[in-house]
Amino acid sequence: MRDLVRQTTITPDDLVCPVFVQENLTERTTVGAMPGTQRIPMSDITDEIESIRDLGIPAVMLFGIPATKDDRGSSAFDENGIVQRAASQIKENFGDGMVVMADVCLCQYTESGHCGMISEDGRRIDNDSSLKVLAATAVSQASSGVDVVSPSAMMDGQVAAIRRALDDSGFGDVAIMSHSAKHKSGFYSPFRDAAECAPKFGDRATYQVPYTNPREAMLEVESDVAEGVDIIMIKPALAYLDLIAEARRRFDIPVSAYSVSGEYAMVMAAAASGYINGTQIALEIIHSIKRAGADMIVTYFARDVAGSIKAQ
Ligand code: PBG
Repeated sequence: MRDLVRQTTITPDDLVCPVFVQENLTERTTVGAMPGTQRIPMSDITDEIESIRDLGIPAVMLFGIPATKDDRGSSAFDENGIVQRAASQIKENFGDGMVVMADVCLCQYTESGHCGMISEDGRRIDNDSSLKVLAATAVSQASSGVDVVSPSAMMDGQVAAIRRALDDSGFGDVAIMSHSAKHKSGFYSPFRDAAECAPKFGDRATYQVPYTNPREAMLEVESDVAEGVDIIMIKPALAYLDLIAEARRRFDIPVSAYSVSGEYAMVMAAAASGYINGTQIALEIIHSIKRAGADMIVTYFARDVAGSIKAQ
C-alpha cells in the first residue's frame, strides 16, 4: 500500500553521472577526497560508459583534465582535446544510447585556475574576453558530438554567447544546460583535487553567487532564461533546496541540481567511519532534491543510487 501512495520516485532517468577523463593517464586513479570516484584514462572510457549505461543512467557529464595548461586555456577548445576525444568515442560506440553532456569552463585549462581569462593588469577576471573562449569551447565540443554543453564559468552573458556561436556553426540542436545559479561554495573543494582546478590566487567570489543572496540567484536564472538556456541548474544542491524549489515555482523550464563533490565527500567520510549508512543517506538526499523540484540531478552517487534501485 505504501507503494501505491508514494509521492516521490527516483529512477535512473533522473540521474546524470559525472565522469573525469584525464589526458596522458595510464591507469585509473582514485580521487583523494572522493572515495569511489576515479579519474579515468581515454583507454577506459568505453568500459566506463558501458557500466553507467548498464545501470540505466541516461547521461554523463564529462570533465576533462588536460595535459597542458596555458593562459588562454587552449586545450579547452582544441579539437583533439581530452573532452572532445572522449565525446567522439562515446558517440561512435553508443550513439543516442548515451546523452553526452560536457562541462564548459576554463579553470582546468588555465594556468591561473580561474574560470575565465585574466585581465592585462593580472588582477581581474575579464568577463567579455572569456565569453569568446567559452563559446569556442562549446562549439568544439558540439563538433565532437556533445549533446548538451554545460557552462559552469558563471561569466555574465555566457549562455547568449554560446547559443549564438552554436547556431552560427550549425549546432542549433545542441542544448545548453547552464550552471545558472552556481554559488561560491566550500562544497567544491574535493572537486578541485579531482579536476586540478583550484584558483592560484584569490577566489571565485567575483563571479559566483554569494549564498547569502537568494534573490540574486533567481536573477541569474532569469538572465539565463532570457538568453535562451534549455536547462537551468542550481548548485550545490543539498544546502540550496529552497532555491531549487523557488526556481521550480518561477520558471517553466527543466531544472537540474548539482549535488557537488563536498556533499558526496561528507556522506562517504561519515559512512567510512561507520557513523551512518552511506547508501541509505544518499537515497534520502537524492529524494529530497527531487522533492524540492529538480527534474534531474547530477550526482557522484548516480551509480550507487541506480544500483540500489535495480536491486530492489
Ligand atoms: C569548474 C567547476 C567546479 C565544479 C564544477 N565545475 C568547481 C569550481 O567552481 O570551483 C564543482 C563540482 C563539484 O564540486 O562537484 N567550473
